[in-house]
Amino acid sequence: MAKKLFIKTYGCQMNVYDSTRMSDVLAPLGYAPTDHPDGADMIILNTCHIREKASEKVFSELGRLKQIKQEKAEDGGRMILAVAGCVAQAEGDEILRRAPQVDLVFGPQTYHRLPELVTRTLRDEKSRGVLDIDFPLESKFDSLPEDSVVQGSAAFLSIQEGCDKFCTFCVVPYTRGAEFSRPAADIFAEAKRLVSAGAREITLLGQNVNAYHGEAPIRSFATAPAASSTLKETSTWGLGRLLRYLSEIEGLERLRYTTSHPRDMDDELIAVHGEEPKVMPYLHLPVQSGADRILDAMNRRHTADDYRRIVDRLRAACPNIALSSDFIVGFPGERDEDFAATLRLVTDIGYAQAYSFKYSPRPGTPAESIEQQIDEADKSERLETLQGLLGAQQLAFNQSTVGQTMPVLLEKAGRRNNQLSGRSPFMQSVFVEANRRLLGEIVEVRIEKAHARSLEGSVVTGSYTTLPAEVGRSSDQVVQSVVGAGT
Ligand code: SAH
Ligand code: SF4
Ligand code: F3S
Repeated sequence: MAKKLFIKTYGCQMNVYDSTRMSDVLAPLGYAPTDHPDGADMIILNTCHIREKASEKVFSELGRLKQIKQEKAEDGGRMILAVAGCVAQAEGDEILRRAPQVDLVFGPQTYHRLPELVTRTLRDEKSRGVLDIDFPLESKFDSLPEDSVVQGSAAFLSIQEGCDKFCTFCVVPYTRGAEFSRPAADIFAEAKRLVSAGAREITLLGQNVNAYHGEAPIRSFATAPAASSTLKETSTWGLGRLLRYLSEIEGLERLRYTTSHPRDMDDELIAVHGEEPKVMPYLHLPVQSGADRILDAMNRRHTADDYRRIVDRLRAACPNIALSSDFIVGFPGERDEDFAATLRLVTDIGYAQAYSFKYSPRPGTPAESIEQQIDEADKSERLETLQGLLGAQQLAFNQSTVGQTMPVLLEKAGRRNNQLSGRSPFMQSVFVEANRRLLGEIVEVRIEKAHARSLEGSVVTGSYTTLPAEVGRSSDQVVQSVVGAGT
């Protein structure tokens, strides 16, 4: 009988991707994913260390899981409790000390070694727990199996890992290690496998995804103009070139990438937004603050006006591009006028959506030891003001799409019966009434209603040919309101 594997994922999309790959690595050992922790033979918490609350959640979850582990033992079973991800990397020893119920701790760069780690755990039953938080020389990607759990119609693909930017507030360079880009040919092969497994959309992932500079496929040497570039120069590709290459995959309809850094938005990448229809008109481009002295203290290495100019160039290339960002309020030393500059920047840019956070001091980062830490109450007040403005912008953007007809990739069942949910090209959640057999399809939807965080609409055409036969079946209607394209 298959052993049950429960993985709980915290944090960013890279962790979501890593969790699918952990399942892949454990499948040959007889572990099959389950969506409930009770009775599981192995539980992995794939953790995030980005803000204080993120790691606190892990320790309280470990408390709850201790109980489940004991129950399993009382029934004569054995459950392996593992902690993975960025908290594991940063606080591996501390986890084993504070939570002796944990059997195994491993970091984001070593999960390809899981078969060996699990064997060691089962063998050394009485040990204090197995720890592997190396940054190995070998790349995990070279050892991961090709067979992959099906990710569905919108899939993630990690193309770049780690970060060399060292923003002063951020733990990622310490938890994920140095920047590394996968070879373009490997990414192409994985993208093709995802598409044959049903993916219509792929989001390329990296902590600094647009700093991508992976080895070019061999064939590019043959086509590179000999006079204009040396072999060395043509031997790596940036993200723009990679996106064009992946666009060639038949059956792949949409490409996205996240998270980008403003400093790495090069001309080629900006041009791709205007020229490659498969690259969606949406970009998450974190700015963090609108005040130059704060950006400087954060070591972001660009000014607010640099950011404005990048946005101008993006909009010149792709006039309908929707923008999203991350913001931190209450960074040490942030004055009222700095916060006002952030509000000004938000007003100038006009975001379709955004994420904003109170600054959280992280152990071992330079900003943690800056003296002028901001009061919690001030942080809360600024966050509320900023979120009010961003929320109003998001609602206005959603309202501006009412009446438009746009392609929506239907990804999953909605909250109500007969309801499906999907994403617009601009990353908005869209709910429609439609039969489940349209899951995984890209359909034209007329947007009828806008909410703060989602849209509602009706399917007007499908990317299918069987529609007329299905229409009119009242009990099993494929499309609730078929009005025909353009009517
Ligand atoms: N690589 C991405 C961000 C990764 S972390 C980038 O460079 O933009 C995701 C977001 O978490 C960041 O953009 C930032 O807004 C937020 N964040 C990171 N560290 C934080 C901290 N110490 N306190 C509060 N927010 C933080
Ligand atoms: Fe963190 Fe800055 Fe690197 Fe983003 S670019 S992961 S915020 S250090
Ligand atoms: Fe969190 Fe690690 Fe991602 S700290 S945001 S899970 S890279």
